[in-house]
Amino acid sequence: MKRILIDTDIGVDDALAVLFALKSPELLVEAITTVSGNVHVEQCTRNLRITLGCMNLEELPLISQGEEAPLTMPLVTSAHVHGSDGLGGISGDLAPDGTRLYPELECPLSPISAVDTITDLVNRYPDELILVPVGPLTNIAKAMLNSPAVMRRVREIVLMGGVFEIYGNVTTQAEFNIYADPQAAQVVFNFGVPITMMPLDVTHQVVLTRERLDAEANRRNTRLIQFLRDSTQACMVYHQEREGVKGLYMHDPLAIGYLLQPDYFDVVDAYVQVETLGDLTQGRTVGNLRAQRASRAPNARVCVEVDAERFLRFFFDCVVS
Ligand code: RIB
Ligand code: CA
Repeated sequence: MKRILIDTDIGVDDALAVLFALKSPELLVEAITTVSGNVHVEQCTRNLRITLGCMNLEELPLISQGEEAPLTMPLVTSAHVHGSDGLGGISGDLAPDGTRLYPELECPLSPISAVDTITDLVNRYPDELILVPVGPLTNIAKAMLNSPAVMRRVREIVLMGGVFEIYGNVTTQAEFNIYADPQAAQVVFNFGVPITMMPLDVTHQVVLTRERLDAEANRRNTRLIQFLRDSTQACMVYHQEREGVKGLYMHDPLAIGYLLQPDYFDVVDAYVQVETLGDLTQGRTVGNLRAQRASRAPNARVCVEVDAERFLRFFFDCVVS
């Protein structure tokens, strides 16, 4: 059993990661915290409630809202990829009787901020709690800056973010989660707790296609599968039109997949730094993944390969079950 906290800018692939984690008996999701990224944090919290509302959960994780804006940079979002509501526009979908097809679950929102929720739970579970940030690292960095002694007791950070040997997805140099708050990412990578990274180099190896989703729906057409089909539609169209990719990348679900099946992944140790000053290279993660001997003591384990088909089969066996 792994005890985790998911920090998310819940957009389309984040929602798949949240479903995946909550359907996995091997993971104990203590809390889900939201942060501005794909869309503004208030919409992220609404999206989290919509996602939870599709699951008929007996027990809910603590949910807590986080930072509206990056540490110093102006907020940038990726609504053009995830839809104006961050979930492919489904928040406005109506059932034949005129009611919302995907209503928000009326679950309590913690009165405590995401940053304080993170430090409180690390304090409660020292050397045990694993943080799984799948959006900009603003909440995590603020927790480190506010409570460094407590945050040193984080067991591990498994994050989706960064890019090394392929083009970025915001600029050619940078991946969105790091680009959106490079100062926060620099704090996290310099802090000294164990980090495992899922950069675009590995997440681009796993594409969820419409055909695969339809095939899984034929296996068992559950409400969850319908949510997956509806919420991913716009994102898939975006990738097809913009990148010629017939589907969407499983960015954030891979972070959950690593926690559950680390043997599906090849990992290298590297010393990773974040560019915060470059006009053209803001948010670039810099590290040599091919060094025989790292120039400095590694500060991260970087996932560079994944068995995509084994991962997708495991994901659907878990989510469709
Ligand atoms: O670059 C991909 C990442 O940015 C994913 O986490 C996606 O949800 C967006 O946050
Ligand atoms: Ca995300």
